[in-house]
Order: sequence, then structure tokens, then C-alpha cells
Amino acid sequence: MGKQVLLIKGSPRKNGNTSVMADAFGNGAKESGNTVTEVFLKEKNIGDCIGCAVCQRNGGNCVQKDDMTEIYESMKEADVIVLASPVYFYSWTSLMKRMIDRTFAVEALLENKKFYLLSAGAAPEEKYMQTMINGFREYVSCFEEGGSKEGGILFAYDTREPGDVKGMQVLEKAYEMGKAI
Ligand SMILES: Cc1cc2nc3c(=O)[nH]c(=O)nc-3n(C[C@H](O)[C@H](O)[C@H](O)COP(=O)(O)O)c2cc1C
Repeated sequence: MGKQVLLIKGSPRKNGNTSVMADAFGNGAKESGNTVTEVFLKEKNIGDCIGCAVCQRNGGNCVQKDDMTEIYESMKEADVIVLASPVYFYSWTSLMKRMIDRTFAVEALLENKKFYLLSAGAAPEEKYMQTMINGFREYVSCFEEGGSKEGGILFAYDTREPGDVKGMQVLEKAYEMGKAI
């Protein structure tokens, strides 16, 4: 039986570099018999976590009824969760961070996931991505008790305009990463 793969796209640019990377990952995953779905956060209505912590006392139900409701379900069903976000000031886009904060509600409910980070930046090398890498690893560590772990991390460097990533070797790596989940 194939795995369920969820691509979460956190760039505001629909055909941006991280979206292209996520698609390459998804194509690889499909190639090896898995099922791929995606969510483009920019088109979703997602409120900020308001820190009420009601979810911590009611079994993980967020009081906000917005598009996170369906995303929670997709995340629970997924075996593989791919966070595809460009680097904005050394970290996630606010779109991705907002989604991440809302997963406070389902921290105990997301079990046995493999998380991947696909990211792109204008910077030329990994040393500029350390905050992003640490943020991702620390996020994944919040789900460790439930058996979740890091699957992999991939960066595209020197990317600015949408499409800059096309023709870069990192796309083949993303494809292979997806194929090998
Ligand atoms: C607000 C903003 C902040 C950015 N900050 C960084 C940064 O800190 N480091 C970096 O390498 N690139 C930075 N960039 C460049 C983007 O990460 C780069 O253009 C990337 O390819 C965008 O991915 P996308 O095409 O998927 O949207 C920034 C871009 C914007 C718009």
C-alpha cells in the first residue's frame, strides 16, 4: 500500500520555486506508488493562533472554524508531510508559520509522520539557512513522542524570481527524495 503524502505550500507565489520543488517531490512520490495531495496556503482562510489553549483541554479541537479544519484532517491522514516554504528573513513565510502555530491543537494527534522541509532562498549557501533548519528540526521534535521524525531537508540557493529553480539539480534531488519516502 502506498503512502499518503501531503504537500503544504507556504509561498505566496503559486508557481514559485518552492512550489516547483514540492511538485518534483510529489512526482517522485507518485512514481513509487504513493498518493499525493497538496494545499496552497495563500488561497486558504487561516486565522492566527489566539493562544486561548482551549485545544489543550478539549482533545485538540481548535475554537476557530476556518480552513484549518480540513488541513487538520489532511495532516492526520498523511504519512508524509512536506513543508515547502521559501526563506523569508531567515525563517518561514508568515503563511507557513501561521499554519504551524495552529497545529498546537493537534500536537498530540499527529502520530508517525515523516516531515520534510523543501526551501529556497536567494542566499548562496547553507550557512544562511541555519535558522530555518533549526526551526524545522525543533518543530519536528514537538511530535517525537508520537513517533514522528524528520524525513529530509532540501534547499535551493540563488533563487529570486519564480522559475529560477528550473534546471537546477536540486529538482532531481527533490524528485528522488519523494520517490524514496
Ligand atoms: C520578504 C522576503 C524576505 C526574504 N528573505 C530571504 C532570506 O532571509 N534569505 C534568503 O536566502 N532569501 C530571502 N528571500 C528570497 C526568497 O527566499 C527567494 O526569492 C525564494 O526563491 C522565494 O521562493 P518562492 O519562489 O517559492 O516564493 C526573501 C524574499 C522575500 C520576498
